[in-house]
Amino acid sequence: MNYEMLILEKKDRMAILKLNRPNALNALNSQILLELDKAIDNIKEDDSVDVLIVTGEGKAFVAGADISQMKDLNAEEGRKFGILGQRVFRKIETLEKPSIAAINGFALGGGCELAMSCDLRIASERAKFGQPEVGLGITPGFSGTQRLPRLVGVAKAKELIFTGKIIKAEEAQSIGLVNKVVDKESLLDEAISMAQSIIKNGQLAVRYSKMAIDRGMQGDIDTGIEVEANLFGLCFATKDQKEGMTAFVEKREANFETK
Ligand code: CAA
Repeated sequence: MNYEMLILEKKDRMAILKLNRPNALNALNSQILLELDKAIDNIKEDDSVDVLIVTGEGKAFVAGADISQMKDLNAEEGRKFGILGQRVFRKIETLEKPSIAAINGFALGGGCELAMSCDLRIASERAKFGQPEVGLGITPGFSGTQRLPRLVGVAKAKELIFTGKIIKAEEAQSIGLVNKVVDKESLLDEAISMAQSIIKNGQLAVRYSKMAIDRGMQGDIDTGIEVEANLFGLCFATKDQKEGMTAFVEKREANFETK
């Protein structure tokens, strides 16, 4: 598949998806969003991929939704553009396979929202985060009002969204927005190493765990507990569970079927 604004590379059971519109700091216009949509479908269907890594080309991860494209939209067009971004990011969030955002630079507005739709976030020490939309006279529009409070708490999310202030990677880590901050040079290696630590495990168990966590955190705890019980039970019908536990008893490395 050919992409104009993305680079999709697959190796060692990972897909590395790079936003590649560096002259506009990878700003999200409709085209790049539609390309992202197609790329996620492709990754979803590809059995050779267990983990997705999302990163950006140049000095930005993503500097937001494309302001030039949004400038003259009317209310209905604005709503539709928002729904497009929301839909694509929800597709990333609900991908069965775990995703890691490797945040190489600015992650502002839609860029912070893209990072938040991934399961894990590793940031370069140079990365900067923020939801500066109110400074443009709009709200966050690709689900930032929903994911930021879930990640950092309501009070911190309101502070960031109401003031539009930009924070550095260390602060983003201290409030729980990113998992880890690393040197600019080692960012991709760190993301790959985290992906490898996931890939060595039973992939069905990883995917079921993701599903149980998300169902619980995005719904009520009783539903989450029930989902966990069902998925925990399902694990015992898999070869991975037999192999994982037999390997433990036999004091050897597990060789999982889904690898
Ligand atoms: N949309 C469109 N173009 C953008 C852009 C954006 N979000 N961000 C940067 N660009 C473009 C600039 O216009 C510039 O293009 P030209 O070279 O053609 O002039 C190019 O990218 C380089 O940007 P700068 O010259 O501004 O780079 P800088 O290093 O001086 O500043 C920056 C970097 C602080 C990130 C600055 O570009 C900036 O403030 N960008 C906008 C950030 C922003 O407000 N993001 C939120 C967008 S709204 C949104 O995302 C809504 C939503 O929730 C869905």
